[in-house]
Amino acid sequence: MADEPPAAALEARSLEALNAAMVAEAQPVPGVGRVVCGEGPGGAAIAFVGEQPGDQEDRLGRPFVGPAGKLLDRAFAEAGIDRRASYLTNAVKRFHFVERGKRRLHQRPGAGEIRHDRWWLERELALVDPRIVVALGATAIRALAGKPLPIARHRGETRFGDRLGYITAHPSALLRIREDEDRHAAFEVFVADLEIIRRLSLRNTA
Ligand code: URA
Repeated sequence: MADEPPAAALEARSLEALNAAMVAEAQPVPGVGRVVCGEGPGGAAIAFVGEQPGDQEDRLGRPFVGPAGKLLDRAFAEAGIDRRASYLTNAVKRFHFVERGKRRLHQRPGAGEIRHDRWWLERELALVDPRIVVALGATAIRALAGKPLPIARHRGETRFGDRLGYITAHPSALLRIREDEDRHAAFEVFVADLEIIRRLSLRNTA
């Protein structure tokens, strides 16, 4: 994808047009997967922003369908969030990996990649126009806030520019916790965040 937004993307008046421009722009690059577009209805009350598609997402062409997505689905169910009514996307639009035999090992995107894809995300969010934007983990925070912010200190309600925002953990970070007890505790804290997010998304709609 080019550093400068192509005219087709700037002119896009719908998510479909924006996604088509994003896919058309993407050049084949070794160690970089296909463009995985966001998923969900325009006008969704909540937009969740992750890091980048993972191996499964790259294979299936949909965000959050691998292990992190499964955890997110369980947490959504506990918090009463309807995934199909929400918008799910990523700060970085393509899977970055190194090949080790048959395996493709995830490479965390750097500041350059985040900056590179940031305006796509901004256009996408402008078209979805959610009531609240949720940053799942450090990469999404960097993309949405424009700078790194430690999750431990900034977790909770925030603003991303003019938008109501919320900072929470990335579901993959929960999956990496080895001790069962610690992982379950972290999951409950995550669900509690989602419950707050759901309430915030309903504010002023009664
Ligand atoms: N992790 C992400 O950040 N996004 C996905 O789509 C899947 C896993």
